[in-house]
Amino acid sequence: MDIQTIREKFTKHLGGEATAVYASPGRINLIGEHTDYNGGFVFPGAVEQGMICAFRPNGTRVIRAYSVDLKDYDEFSLDNPAGPHASHFRYVFGVACEMKKRGVDVQGFDTAFAGDVPLGAGMSSSAALESTFAFAINDQFGDNKVEKMELAKAGQATEHNYIGVNCGIMDQFASVFGKKGHLMRLDCRSGEFEYFPWNPKEYRLVLINSRVKHELVGSPYNDRRRSCENVVAAINAKFPELKAETLRDCTWDHLEAVKDTCDPVDIKRAKFVLGEVDRVLAVSDALERGDYETVGQKMYETHYGLSRDYEVSCEELDFLNDVAFDCGVTGSRIMGGGFGGCTINLVRNNLYELFTTTVVERFAEKYGKKPVVIPVVIGDGSRRLA
Ligand code: GLA
Repeated sequence: MDIQTIREKFTKHLGGEATAVYASPGRINLIGEHTDYNGGFVFPGAVEQGMICAFRPNGTRVIRAYSVDLKDYDEFSLDNPAGPHASHFRYVFGVACEMKKRGVDVQGFDTAFAGDVPLGAGMSSSAALESTFAFAINDQFGDNKVEKMELAKAGQATEHNYIGVNCGIMDQFASVFGKKGHLMRLDCRSGEFEYFPWNPKEYRLVLINSRVKHELVGSPYNDRRRSCENVVAAINAKFPELKAETLRDCTWDHLEAVKDTCDPVDIKRAKFVLGEVDRVLAVSDALERGDYETVGQKMYETHYGLSRDYEVSCEELDFLNDVAFDCGVTGSRIMGGGFGGCTINLVRNNLYELFTTTVVERFAEKYGKKPVVIPVVIGDGSRRLA
């Protein structure tokens, strides 16, 4: 949605004129899945699709919010800890509370917001919403004194404290820090990151949305995290001097040493995580050399790991991956948390038409509905538009 349209929606549903407009994107992730809450590496980039909001401080203690996409209005006080009921408003309320905790004197405001990140596609529509409001509140009430990484953490804490998803930092980080034409490699243990220009001449990235709704709330996502924590606890019990905080601090030998005392399912998941940390580093090296075939091969390895060991795939995503492989696509895998959503595919330009047509046809034949082809364009992170 453009600036003019969101302003008009604001005027229609809240009255008067908005005084500012903000936006934040969704994200893709090249590789490094379920590694963020394990202190490992991720390789995301922001996309052009995102969330936009028109904003105006209202001089009260109440937030009055209108969701354009859901045609839903609510108002809720900053001083009532219960907050609103509907999750799309809980994100806004949660971010406001988290920004207060970070020292911002948050006041009431009126807002209308809308987005074009497909919901439930694993492209982080919720992080886009959180980052939009964290950025807006920092700009409007905090003189931009809260650091960008802290804005991302306010979004993540919103998921933990107001939504119930114990997510890592990747999605909010990518949304806040995104940069046109660049992917980012983030070390989730140290918080250090680098921008990598993304301009392969002979390849393109494309998402295929299975349209199986991915929903992390109440999903086995939190169980996966718990499995990893169980293994870290077992390793710390056996090697107290290690003081491991996450699986990133553990080695294959540590894992081997506790494998008989842990639940085999937890061990299988931990193995995936250690493998995934190694794969992100291999992909970084391959990118430095311009070796996209290796990048693609690692993507397939990630898919198999996510499907067989981490068990976050589903039949439709495995099917999309198989079709990609059959078509000779360079790399393909589940993207994001899993349990539905998209695959991300690294495709040679000369195969692009063939792949995108074939995958739509074959999927529709089998499941009776067409998957959605989403070409990836790497865009900018959180910003004020007007
Ligand atoms: C979701 C979470 C992220 C990350 C991914 C899996 O998108 O929000 O923190 O854990 O799943 O990589």
